[in-house]
Amino acid sequence: MRLWLRGLVLQALKSSQAFYGTYGQSTSPPVPKVMATWEAISLGKQSVPEYFNFAHDMLDLWSQLEKAGHRPPNPAFWWVNGTGAEVKWTFEELGKQSRKAANVLEGVCGLQPGDRMMLVLPRLPEWWLIIVACMRTGVVMIPGISQLTEKDLKYRLQASRAKSIVTNDSLAPHVDAISADCPSLQTKLLVSDSKCPGWMNFRELLQEASSQHSCVRTKNQDPMAIYFTSGTTGAPKMAEHSQSSYGLGFMASGRRWVALTESSVFWNTTDTGWVKAAWTLFSAWSNGACVFVHELPRVDAKTILNTLCRFPITTLCCVPTIFRLLVQEDLRRYKFQSLRHCLTGGEALNPDVRDKWKSQTGLELYEGYGQSETVLICANIRGSTIKSGSMGKACPPYDVQIVDDEGNVLPPGEEGNIAVRIRPTRPFCFFNCYLDSPEKTAASERGDFYITGDRAHVDKDGYYWFIGRNDDVINSSSYRIGPVEVESALAEHPAVVESAVVSSPDPIRGEVVKAFIVLSPAYSSHDPETLTKELQEHVKRVTAPYKYPRKVAFVSELPKTVSGKIQRSILRNQEWGR
Ligand SMILES: *[C@@H]1O[C@H](CO)[C@@H](O)[C@H](O)[C@H]1NC(C)=O
Ligand SMILES: *[C@@H]1O[C@H](CO)[C@@H](O)[C@H](O)[C@H]1NC(C)=O
Ligand SMILES: *[C@@H]1O[C@H](CO)[C@@H](O)[C@H](O)[C@H]1NC(C)=O
Ligand SMILES: *[C@@H]1O[C@H](CO)[C@@H](O)[C@H](O)[C@H]1NC(C)=O
Repeated sequence: MRLWLRGLVLQALKSSQAFYGTYGQSTSPPVPKVMATWEAISLGKQSVPEYFNFAHDMLDLWSQLEKAGHRPPNPAFWWVNGTGAEVKWTFEELGKQSRKAANVLEGVCGLQPGDRMMLVLPRLPEWWLIIVACMRTGVVMIPGISQLTEKDLKYRLQASRAKSIVTNDSLAPHVDAISADCPSLQTKLLVSDSKCPGWMNFRELLQEASSQHSCVRTKNQDPMAIYFTSGTTGAPKMAEHSQSSYGLGFMASGRRWVALTESSVFWNTTDTGWVKAAWTLFSAWSNGACVFVHELPRVDAKTILNTLCRFPITTLCCVPTIFRLLVQEDLRRYKFQSLRHCLTGGEALNPDVRDKWKSQTGLELYEGYGQSETVLICANIRGSTIKSGSMGKACPPYDVQIVDDEGNVLPPGEEGNIAVRIRPTRPFCFFNCYLDSPEKTAASERGDFYITGDRAHVDKDGYYWFIGRNDDVINSSSYRIGPVEVESALAEHPAVVESAVVSSPDPIRGEVVKAFIVLSPAYSSHDPETLTKELQEHVKRVTAPYKYPRKVAFVSELPKTVSGKIQRSILRNQEWGR
């Protein structure tokens, strides 16, 4: 494999197909020849080689291309913060720093290929280094969002049996409070300028570490990452991804949907909940593009617009909610340096927002659809005709179909489940399974298909039209919130007999969490306002603060099926006036 690759690199350097460009180049140059092979694999036109490692086969390759002058002087990573500090790494520097980080994981932490490491950090450059270091060492990464409470952390550490955790000063005491209950946890790494007893200091260790490291040989199906996904029933599930699924799966969509090249600077403001933040780096780095990061935890409309004026960002991705805020500003007052391609996803895009954005900036908004179990399933790829309101066409190599509940393919125009064919061949760019839960893995399949849990119809031209989720997950300001988690938290309060949590419309967040609560007799005469506040505070304490019910209604009973299951859909329809 390595010899084969080296051959390809030499061939690429000789044929000199690489592209020289500057920021803001508007034409799309050909993929450098060596990368064309990977692109063909990413599109499913060639089979995935037995061994694959993103750090070795993509990053180190770009580092060589960069060194040979086959890449414009565009950083690979560009981090800025609110006070104007900047970190810029070329592919070579990224390689060097991540090799040092790999030596920290392997040496001091003693981690072996297949060991699991949880990563809970705000947007610090170290996050990217550790992700790459995990790939170099074969350590399975578990990115977690930083709003996790002790209870959430404990569940995740126990379920995943993670051997190590990396976090910052604020979260360290919470980890300490629960680590006695997490026997598998052996090493704790702190990303900080200060010391903390019981914790190893990542920054110090990184400085001392050697930059010589040889990447482990990983098979394409070896595990690379575990993502916790919130479902409607029960605790969050662990979706396991292989080395090739994200590592190769995002290359083609990065080229075709995100329209990335070696001269692109890609800013995805959506990277809030770290669970899927890795999407951006896989699509950017496999295409030799720069990942741009703004450290601010909350980016507001003005910060986004000013950042687009100050930096040569070519490619922007925001959730529709953010574009809704942006179009409320007077966009003509801003002169964007290099912006040329805009994307959105994660929720349905309002056609009105697309029209306003386009009329004020001249730029189209390209919508895409995918899940953490997959890469990009459907999208409006650059150059295609957009039908406003549609999420575009199926993305290769997926065979996307609308199926009924038994897995039979439905004709165009009929509403059904969005599904991806997994038999006879499971796509390589697909999660391996829900870990430790064969029954959940089986429940996500019907016949020859994986069922996404979302509903849509496809028209006769192959465009998909999103209808809604099959399940009850609430997405408030792009946070996905499983009702069961909130209901379980409420149930811990003595006032609550039972509850049902659904989404409710909100002018700013799109939707918010609403809890319908049946009170215990002892509390039924309490002042509703005081009780509401108390229950909200309780949920914030027990689970992550962003999950608390912004709306609360006290009811005498909840709608139920004959078998006794709470019918959230009835309450939800009532909320939304359906
Ligand atoms: C920005 O980063 C610099 C360098 O890491 C740091 O000294 C400064 O405090 C940061 N500013 C903010 C607002 O975080
Ligand atoms: C640690 O990360 C959390 C979550 O992103 C953040 O709120 C907090 O300010 C960070 N703490 C420090 C000391 O930087
Ligand atoms: C931006 O990030 C979000 C979440 O981190 C992800 O779902 C989305 O697909 C990303 N967008 C692109 C264009 O990569
Ligand atoms: C997520 O919430 C938004 C409002 O913020 C809503 O419009 C959208 O339909 C939701 N996304 C999905 C996938 O249903």
